[in-house]
Amino acid sequence: MAILVDMTGSESRLDAIKTDFKRLGVNDPVWVVGDDFDPATIRLVLAWKPQTRDWAAFPNVHLVQSWGAGVDHLLDAGFPADWTVARFMGQSLKDRMVRYVCAQLSNWQLDMPRLYAAQSEQRWDWHDGRWGDNVLVLGLGELGQSVAEALVQQGYQVSGWSQSPKTIESVVSLTGKQGLRAGLAKADYLINLLPLTSETRGLLDSQLWARCERKPVIMNVGRGASLAEDDLIPALDVGLIGGAILDVFDPEPLADDSPLWRHPDIWITPHIASISDPSDVIRLAIENQQRVEAGQQPRYPVDLSREY
Ligand code: GLV
Repeated sequence: MAILVDMTGSESRLDAIKTDFKRLGVNDPVWVVGDDFDPATIRLVLAWKPQTRDWAAFPNVHLVQSWGAGVDHLLDAGFPADWTVARFMGQSLKDRMVRYVCAQLSNWQLDMPRLYAAQSEQRWDWHDGRWGDNVLVLGLGELGQSVAEALVQQGYQVSGWSQSPKTIESVVSLTGKQGLRAGLAKADYLINLLPLTSETRGLLDSQLWARCERKPVIMNVGRGASLAEDDLIPALDVGLIGGAILDVFDPEPLADDSPLWRHPDIWITPHIASISDPSDVIRLAIENQQRVEAGQQPRYPVDLSREY
């Protein structure tokens, strides 16, 4: 039996992936798309924006393990409906996301670009900071919940908007249209951690920001397509929002000639907020494979028909 790594852009990681499988006691052959292998031998597919489409040639796949937490990249892959799919989740992913969000909020509040510029000119540029206490986290899945808890620890007033109510200490749980409206009205920061589905596509747009009363800074660490990129600069111009901290785009990478690059109140990072730790993904893939072969559900199962 063998493993297929079908990950767009995985070339540089392949050796590490093979080494990790071996180190963790799995000696099955590890193939990549384009290798000469027998598809009938594949029992585990490690996937990130997979290219393969003729899955009918893979009758023995027990599990598709997503390399990332999001699974929107798997929706068009055409997997047979009865295949088991799992997403990646783990403490390292949560920690990295928490660190990114907290760091960027602090950087924003201290206006770090201004201070870097001042340092480069050996200028003592004391300023009052750009404070703000109210954060609305959109999406209270594993990552959203960790972020909300960490922000509470940092002294923020945190609300979280999710499909079903959540009980998280010191976090106001909001649901539905009414809940969203209430959260938007008082948010200084709006952090998107929603999965990309047909319902969340384009959700963050001018219409939504028009409901905000405090000119919030928008942070997108979910998926690029959840945010209407073309609405950003007009919304900044008319003062609907105060800034944008963007880690995800649609498409990626962000086009060289995008005006977003040059706007002083838009900060851009290259989808780096929370990178999957390869060893953690492989450890989970092996555990999930064993669970599925033993007739159990994998950890972090995904129902692709529900889009997350
Ligand atoms: C990254 O974007 C992920 O889905 O984990």
